[in-house]
Amino acid sequence: MGEHDDINLTTPSFFGRHDPHPIWRRLRSEDPVHWTQGRLRHGFWSVTRHADMRFVLSNDTSIFSVQRHGANLPAGPEFEAPEDALFTELTHSGAQLAIMDGQPHTDLRRQFWTFFSPGGVRDLEGMVRRITGNLLADLLEQGSCDFTTDFAGKVPTAVIAAILGIPESHWADLYRWNNMLAAPEDPEFAVGDALATQTAGVANIMRTCIELAASKRGRGGADLLTALTTAEINGRPLTDTEIGFNGLMFFAAGHETTRASMSTGLAEMLADPGQWAYLRDNRQDRDVLRRAGEEFVRYSAPLTHTLRTATEDTAIGGQKIAAGDWVVLWFHGANRDPAVFVDPERFDVTRVKNEHLGFALGKHFCLGTHLARLDMAVMLSAMLEHLEDIEPAGPVEMASSNLFWGIKHLPIRFRAKSGRALREAVA
Ligand code: HEM
Repeated sequence: MGEHDDINLTTPSFFGRHDPHPIWRRLRSEDPVHWTQGRLRHGFWSVTRHADMRFVLSNDTSIFSVQRHGANLPAGPEFEAPEDALFTELTHSGAQLAIMDGQPHTDLRRQFWTFFSPGGVRDLEGMVRRITGNLLADLLEQGSCDFTTDFAGKVPTAVIAAILGIPESHWADLYRWNNMLAAPEDPEFAVGDALATQTAGVANIMRTCIELAASKRGRGGADLLTALTTAEINGRPLTDTEIGFNGLMFFAAGHETTRASMSTGLAEMLADPGQWAYLRDNRQDRDVLRRAGEEFVRYSAPLTHTLRTATEDTAIGGQKIAAGDWVVLWFHGANRDPAVFVDPERFDVTRVKNEHLGFALGKHFCLGTHLARLDMAVMLSAMLEHLEDIEPAGPVEMASSNLFWGIKHLPIRFRAKSGRALREAVA
């Protein structure tokens, strides 16, 4: 493993212009627990094998902490000092479900479970179908679109915004600010340098969530922002910062990763139309759609990495790790590990045994898994029913981020089967 690879892994813009998979393949076979310095002052261990990642995630809180230094690598050296970078400061604060350890994490997670449990999500199916149907009906009349921004991003944004109780007038701004937070090095989203861009994105999303939550407080609403005003950590109500930062987490996690999974899935099927044809022939079969969604997540691994800090001296895959060391789990490494997956580099919607770690596992197993699966199944089913002869209409563009990796633009053309029928069906 060369220094060059380490620098690339810690350079978000590399992910916008190049395919990082060769690095993860090299790491997994040559140095699966690899000391990585790269561009950052704070070096870390890169973990790329499925079994090693399972070990770390299964020992959350006992041997590893997410709270001590948060779950994300700083986007660059200028993001490393918490006093200079709002997002870094917040991710070191333990002020959000995703970056809490132990019993307080378990207690807080339980308070949001009704929104994301299988039963809670089943109740949302009608709403997801309506949102999907209306958006797709608009696109059918156009005959072409940017699949990522016009559909794969809009559906989950509308769904999570409805769950949070955020009025539609805020959605476009929140979506833009989220891109600034997730890919601050991407010139398309920049409003200054990367640090200023990310700080503005974070501050704006948090302010919006805090203001909306304040307007809902005490009114007995059934939405998730109202739930944040009544939730408790260690027996006390959440502070405004905690409300804002958790609101941000739900909004970001609720749309960004689903958008990336769907976009990757479609891009791969455009390259291999036989897989689209297979899904079309089997579009009434929920199991087929569910398996396809899992493969979208395995193959795209939209959350590129998560970070943990060792709380004691330990070993991962035989490599000694000292207390205080950072450990970065690269989901793409695990999701294409030949020790676990047959023909791992092949995108295959018919894959039956698919024990990917795209939703992680253990205490921080993705809370939105059932919702993501529903969003993807409904979107896919509507597309298979109403779109024909889809073809690329321009180059695919990737976002410059080594955290939320994925397609940011996917222009397509298509023939529409039945726009009016679709609108009537969801009316
Ligand atoms: C395909 C879509 C999705 C993927 C690939 C995905 C992936 C992940 C991963 C890997 C984690 C664990 C991070 C870690 O261990 O540090 C996670 C956590 C989380 N996800 Fe998702 N996610 C998706 C969709 C969603 C949706 C729709 C929501 C809804 C709000 C959501 C909410 C969350 C939350 C709240 C957590 C933190 C859970 C905790 O720490 O207890 N995710 N997600």
